[in-house]
Amino acid sequence: MNIIGSMISSLVVALKQVFHHVGTLKSHRPLRVAQDLPVSSKVEPYAAIIGAGRSSFGEQWYKDPEKLVMEAGIRAMESVDSGLRRRDIQACYLGSFLYQATNKLSLLPGHMARELGINIPMNTTEAACGSGGSAFYNGCIAIKSGKYDVVLVGGFEKMTDRSGKIIDDLMFAADPHEFDAGFTFSGLYAAMMARYIHDYGERDNRCVEALAQVACKNHHHAIGNEYAQFRREITVEDVLKSQPIADPIRLLHCSPVSDGAAAVILARPDLAKKYTDTPTYVIGSQQATDDVSLFTRASLTGIKATRLAVGIALKETGLSIEDIQIAEAHDCFTIEEAMFLEDSGFYEMGKAWQGIYESYESSKGSKHIPYVKDGASIIVNPGGGLKADGHPVGATGVRQIVECFKQLRNEAGNHQVEVDGDLNLALCHNIGGTGGIAVVHILARDI
Ligand code: COA
Repeated sequence: MNIIGSMISSLVVALKQVFHHVGTLKSHRPLRVAQDLPVSSKVEPYAAIIGAGRSSFGEQWYKDPEKLVMEAGIRAMESVDSGLRRRDIQACYLGSFLYQATNKLSLLPGHMARELGINIPMNTTEAACGSGGSAFYNGCIAIKSGKYDVVLVGGFEKMTDRSGKIIDDLMFAADPHEFDAGFTFSGLYAAMMARYIHDYGERDNRCVEALAQVACKNHHHAIGNEYAQFRREITVEDVLKSQPIADPIRLLHCSPVSDGAAAVILARPDLAKKYTDTPTYVIGSQQATDDVSLFTRASLTGIKATRLAVGIALKETGLSIEDIQIAEAHDCFTIEEAMFLEDSGFYEMGKAWQGIYESYESSKGSKHIPYVKDGASIIVNPGGGLKADGHPVGATGVRQIVECFKQLRNEAGNHQVEVDGDLNLALCHNIGGTGGIAVVHILARDI
């Protein structure tokens, strides 16, 4: 074949690929129904979730942190269909990051024993923004080990009390050299975002737009969420014209400073039906860690701890990322949601921005905007994520579980995800710092 012939045949192949891709994006293949899902028949759940509750997120000037946890905890207990007595709870696992600095509070177990009026074991976990997910992980292990039948897992943070100082306080979760060099968390994620745009999207302005669309999508998803901090639509233009925070990050790329709490009740899977006809099962529970310093990482455009935790969680459940129908991704800054889509394997490395752009453009206006690719579809952050629901750091990991529990039980109210067939599988991804820890849970309604 001569040169022109070979160029034409390459062009035809390329066009076929483009048309195939666009066709897939437009057609929105229906999600697979529960019976078809390949949950491994050997999966033995870690625990069952039998109740969940949360506070509103945002500024809560008049509520002490312990009261916020109680509010979420009582809502979780009251949500248990067949009732739960206080004395049924055998232990508590609580996640929080900064309560010593923000509220001059310590010995949390003593505070919680006073609030709950019971003297059970109480364990606290600090893993920065991953504190809630990590507390939930510990609760799952406690149930799986057989030590307890029923435990309460809570997460909380009261950030607004610290006003201007909170941004410095958050840097406890970074390498001190990064703090000394003048970084904030927005600055660290700005370094990742700048590198991502440089490596994968520099010659295409749609990359910058896609990283703004993540924020627009999550604000859109939060409209029906009665607990969310921000329930207003924003446009790509709003994001790109908002106040510069740390170039290229602008105010509307960021999750906010928030107060709030969330709680869930875990039970032994074989006892779950005593409490409710519709428990949700934790079928995957994994945690991975990495060097706290961003500057030592081999790559700035992905999170190794996410890759490890998602990979092992999927492996232990016999699922692939394409099987997951909804995901709570840790979108502390919009670049992190894009990196989650790559680290989880949903999109190829360096290609998430294209998937985000094409998905957003093809689903604009629908109640939820799924990310789509050939043969699969996933709705990420159906209640607004950290960006719009809010990010009281220690509460976030537990709030993600609350959200998925409600979605899987069809109890998410005005922001309930609607899919063809049954909604059965959800994944929660919670990280601390710039990826020093990642916690991943996979939930299933039917096993
Ligand atoms: N998204 C949308 N709107 C936001 C917002 C956000 N993230 N943060 C603040 N706003 C809004 C406020 O509601 C307020 O609106 P109003 O004027 O209508 O009342 C306005 O913007 C100004 O709010 P303010 O609190 O003065 O903003 P700020 O400039 O002090 O803080 C950020 C904005 C982005 C710097 C701050 O939210 C931030 O640092 N976020 C990141 C937190 C973080 O690092 N978390 C840990 C992640 S690892």
